[in-house]
Amino acid sequence: MNCNIRAWRMSDAADLAAALNNPNIQNNLRDGLPCPYTQKDAGDYIDAMLRADKNATFAFAITVDDKAIGSIGVFRKDNIHSRTAEMGYYISELFWGQGLGTSAVKQTCKYIFENTDILRIFAEPFAYNTASCHILEKSGFLCEGILRANAVKNGKVLDMALYALLKSDCPEYSEV
Ligand SMILES: CC(C)(COP(=O)(O)OP(=O)(O)OC[C@H]1O[C@@H](n2cnc3c(N)ncnc32)[C@H](O)[C@@H]1OP(=O)(O)O)[C@@H](O)C(=O)NCCC(=O)NCCS
Repeated sequence: MNCNIRAWRMSDAADLAAALNNPNIQNNLRDGLPCPYTQKDAGDYIDAMLRADKNATFAFAITVDDKAIGSIGVFRKDNIHSRTAEMGYYISELFWGQGLGTSAVKQTCKYIFENTDILRIFAEPFAYNTASCHILEKSGFLCEGILRANAVKNGKVLDMALYALLKSDCPEYSEV
């Protein structure tokens, strides 16, 4: 299956809403997303991403045949962490288990390291989220540790895993 990442379009709102209006996805993300997640919510998100600071927010639709089937974003931190960025992502459940998440993570990291001065991309999946931990490992990320009792999600205290990929881990990406 041919997976790509591209800039969001307002016309993706229906597909984005269909993907994210699913507790099996939202249960693995931070709180704060509307539930149910409507097409208007999706449109507001896309609008915010299109207006965001292009040096700090790198948000992409994950596509198959140009149809949005997921979302991936890299968000620059500030102050002394300004060359560090956090990555988050999800794939519509209909498309799980076909390598699309791994492909999107790899393509996004390549884009970030080739086009920005970001040196470190990190992600913090819940430690039980085997699929997410696995796609990070397959993309070259190192597990730097377990953040014990780092979150409360749906009333449960959860550990999180800290994964990071450095630009210097990837000799194929040009030096900044
Ligand atoms: C995490 C997520 C993006 C993975 O997307 P995906 O397209 O299914 O990922 P891939 O197919 O590239 O890879 C998944 C890998 O995890 C493995 N996997 C999936 N569930 C697993 C489980 N319960 N136990 C062990 N391995 C598992 C798959 O076998 C696959 O590995 P393989 O290619 O070596 O066989 C998707 O499940 C998702 O959107 N989950 C909800 C949101 C989320 O968790 N986002 C990340 C927050 S940090």
